[in-house]
Parts: sequence; C-alpha cells; structure tokens
Amino acid sequence: MLEKKKILLIISGGIAIQKTPALIGLLKNGGASVTAIMTPAAQNFITADEIASLTGNKVHLDTFDKDGWMEHIDLSRKADLVLVAPATANLLAKMAHGLADDLASTTLLASDKPVMVCPAMNVEMWNAPATQRNIETLRGDGVLITGPAPGLLACGEFGMGRLTEPEDIFEAVQSFLKAPSPSGEGRGEGLRSISSLQTPHANPLPRERALAGLKAIVTSGPTHEAIDPVRFVSNRSSGKQGHAIAKALADLGAAVTLVTGPTSLPAPQGVQTIAIESAAEMLKSCKNSLPVDIAVCAAAVADWTPETYQSSKMKKTSDTAMTLSFRQNPDVLATLSAADKDRPRLVVGFAAETDDVVTNAQAKLVKKGCDWVVANSVSAANPVFGSDENQVYFVTSANTEEWPKASKDEIARKLGERIAQFFRDDAVKTAAE
Ligand code: CTP
Repeated sequence: MLEKKKILLIISGGIAIQKTPALIGLLKNGGASVTAIMTPAAQNFITADEIASLTGNKVHLDTFDKDGWMEHIDLSRKADLVLVAPATANLLAKMAHGLADDLASTTLLASDKPVMVCPAMNVEMWNAPATQRNIETLRGDGVLITGPAPGLLACGEFGMGRLTEPEDIFEAVQSFLKAPSPSGEGRGEGLRSISSLQTPHANPLPRERALAGLKAIVTSGPTHEAIDPVRFVSNRSSGKQGHAIAKALADLGAAVTLVTGPTSLPAPQGVQTIAIESAAEMLKSCKNSLPVDIAVCAAAVADWTPETYQSSKMKKTSDTAMTLSFRQNPDVLATLSAADKDRPRLVVGFAAETDDVVTNAQAKLVKKGCDWVVANSVSAANPVFGSDENQVYFVTSANTEEWPKASKDEIARKLGERIAQFFRDDAVKTAAE
C-alpha cells in the first residue's frame, strides 16, 4: 500500500479528467497523501474546489502564490512521485521541450523526483509523429510512461489514446513506490517491470535493471551453409545489430543467450554466447535454450542449404559450369513463434527488405507469427550490412513507426526500452486481472 507516500498529482485538461476523482480515491484509500496542481485547461473540465474536496488539500494553480512563495520548487521537493494524469499531448510536448509557462510545466521542469505520465488524447494526436517523438524523448529522459490504452475514445473514434484505468495507474504507482531502490531505500521490487527510471535531470538516479529476472535469446550474424569442407553459402550480415541487442538486454538485467553465426565481433560482456555455423545448428541451440521470456531473431539466417554436403573437397571437372541444388532451411523465428508449450512471451523478428519495406514487414509479422518486426531496407542504395548505423521501422499489429537513423547501439537500446515497457505493461495488466 502507499502509507506515508506523498503524490504530487498534476492534472492537465482533457475529457479523461473524469477518471481523476476515482484515481484520487484509490491513492487516498491506499494511504497516500495527494496534493494536486491543475493546469488552466483542466479547470474547464472540473473545478479546483472539487479536486480540493477529494484530495483534502489545497489545489495549486499559480506559479507564485500570494506570498510570493515559489511553489514550483517546493511542491515536488515534498513529493515521492510526480504523477501526471491525464497528461495531454500539449503537456507532454512542453515536458519534452523543457517549456515552463504555467505552474504544472514549471514544476515538472524543476522536479528532482521520479515522474510518471499517463497520456490521454485522440488516437491521431497520439499517433502523430510529433507526439511519438516527444514520448521517445521523455522515455529517454527516464520519465515513466503508463498507457495510453486502446479502446473507444471520448471523441467517438477508436484506437490508442484512452487514459489507463485508475486501478491500473494505482497498481503502477504502487509497484513503483513499494520497490526498494538499488541503494536499499524506497523504491525497487516490482520495479523490474518498469523501464528506465531516472529523474529528467543532470544527476539521474541509477538506471533500473528493468528486465532483471527475465531470460532472453537473441540470434545474430549470418549462417554458413557448408557445400564441402572448404566452401559455404552465406550472406553479408555483420552481426552488429544482433550483438548490440544482446548487450542492451543484458544491460537491462536480462539473462541473455546469444546464438550467433560466424562474425568478427567479440562476444558481448555479460552475455552467454553460443557460436554456431548453420541454420540447423542455430535452431537446435535456440530450442535448447527454451524456455525464455523474450526471443529476438536478428540473425540473417540463410534461407537455403545445399541439398547434399560433399565430405571431400569438390574438384573442378572439365565442365565450366556447375549446378548446386538447395533445400529450404528451417525458420528459427517461425518455429519459436509457433512453439506450443514454450513460446516466449515476446517474440521479435527482423525483416531485411530491398523493396516495399513496410508492406513486406507487415506481411512477415503475420506469416511468422511473431509479435513485433523491426524492418530495414537492405537495398544497394542503403548499405546496412557492416554499417554502424541503421534506419528501421518498428512494426506491430497495431501500428508502424519509422525510427530515425541512429547507431545500431542506439537502436538496440531503444528496442530494449520498448521490451521493458512491454513487460511493465504486462505486469500491470496481470496485476489488474
Ligand atoms: N529467419 C529465421 N530463420 C530463417 C529465415 C529467417 O529465423 N530460416 C528470421 C530472421 O532472423 C528474421 C526474420 O526471420 O528475424 C526475417 O528474415 P528475412 O531474411 O527478412 O526474411 P525471410 O524469412 O528470409 O523471407 P524472405 O527471404 O522471403 O524475405
């Protein structure tokens, strides 16, 4: 429960405000004291007096009160958590850009405490590239993002944008505040499901190991399909992206097994690395590593393998031409996605495409039965193989995001944060059931 915890609740102006009284009730019943700040827009939906009567505390509206006291500093210093619910697109944009033009935004900028935001808005506002960029910025700054949820919106449209239900927000707050911090005080346990947790300030709290307790397999590199003892068929994959993902997940605390084809890369630190050659060996090692919570298949597995392996070196004959016959390799990603008993909770595939990247990636998501696909263009005009940078599309059954060009390490970290967020949301959902 939340005894002795102080929540600074920032209420911005959207129709989802109608759920705020229930949220205040849950927080107070849980033992927390709640002090509210309202934006001017919020006061169009509900009065400060109504919120004051629910919290039992004065509601703060102005940056400087009548005595000239600087409330924006004082309010967050007294709080254990700053909770923004509902968080409008406008307030999120201000936070992402460091704007401070009212008490709510000024307090958020001046806060030295963890901040959790609960977005609520129209689906198109949520999907707008600007909002998605702002959310990524905030996530990178260590702001906790709870929601939004999909469903019927107040505007009559359907999609992502509903404020997370008060019970789920309460669970997220509780699981955050009850956890001991790495230094042994305050926050912690239950927090493994909450992604990066830092204050948005120069002196951040240590990053949480948001995937601690979870197991992951990552496949990486090319495979070599042997023709004879000296020759093989392969592709141009360097393994840089897969190895970076294995490291990013390990940095977040997951126990990672990296199953990699031949590359020139060192084994990432803190990762159990299994070196294989062929697709068949990759599949076998992955199956042996089950059960896991997460599978990320970043390997460029050769689609075909020679029908027969010649155990002695093939010699040139008088023929100038030579024909090899191939059969299809097993599909590691599709096999893991379809695993009956041991299907990982989250299966992520990659798609290397030369044409129609997004359309082909969306089709691959369905065909392979995985949960997400990270797609990139591997056309001659866009040399990804061997490069330190990548530009990808993040494809789920709900939507497709274009991620800006970044280093493969940065893309790996971003994917790791998404995976952490997935498990945080999953934990909140399970707790509510
Ligand atoms: N993959 C796999 N096993 C295979 C082939 C692919 O696990 N035998 C995985 C890759 O690791 C990647 C995803 O499937 O996560 C897509 O790989 P990609 O090479 O883009 O597509 P293919 O499945 O090979 O299909 P196509 O060649 O027709 O595009």
